[in-house]
Amino acid sequence: MTVTTPQREVTLRFLAEPSEANFGGKVHGGTVMKWIDHAGYTCATGWSGRYCVTIYVGGIRFYQPVHIGDLVEVQARLIYTGKTSMHVAVDVRSGDPKDRFMRKTTHCIIIFVAVDRDGRPMPISPFKPQTEEDEALQEYAQKLMSLRKGIEEEMGRHLAED
Ligand SMILES: CC(C)(COP(=O)(O)OP(=O)(O)OC[C@H]1O[C@@H](n2cnc3c(N)ncnc32)[C@H](O)[C@@H]1OP(=O)(O)O)[C@@H](O)C(=O)NCCC(=O)NCCS
Repeated sequence: MTVTTPQREVTLRFLAEPSEANFGGKVHGGTVMKWIDHAGYTCATGWSGRYCVTIYVGGIRFYQPVHIGDLVEVQARLIYTGKTSMHVAVDVRSGDPKDRFMRKTTHCIIIFVAVDRDGRPMPISPFKPQTEEDEALQEYAQKLMSLRKGIEEEMGRHLAED
């Protein structure tokens, strides 16, 4: 089958395994971050049709723990594109598979850049918002971008001191 439309959204679903437990018996934060990276990568690669690398992970918030044995859903949605970069909003939800209730456990924005074989940034297809929700998500990405400028300036000053 030939895929003609770029894929804007992807959801990964699986069970949280005992091997992923931290010292408190819940899923490791690092494991959740790996899931976020995998879902974001799948989304960015699906959109661009290219290999992509993570350039920035921002604003990751762990709202609630993921329990071992939970059904986990990691939803990644493209919300903004630049010339070579893709801003992906990732939401993690989890819940006991015996129930229908899934609670939101983690949210984050992750940015990928499509690259060529030599790791150089490559242009991608622009994402055009179709709905009011898309417009709001694009504005959210742009607002975060502008807020990040101040953070990066501060980090730059800090790194310059090393
Ligand atoms: C990603 C990488 C190829 C970009 O190279 P670069 O020379 O910095 O590229 P550019 O300055 O041309 O920027 C490329 C895009 O990244 C964006 N970008 C650059 N710095 C950024 C930052 N701090 N935060 C968010 N986006 C950023 C630019 O705006 C540009 O997007 P646009 O084309 O949509 O406007 C390079 O930084 C890299 O290889 N980083 C390591 C990636 C990696 O190893 N990730 C972990 C494993 S996947």
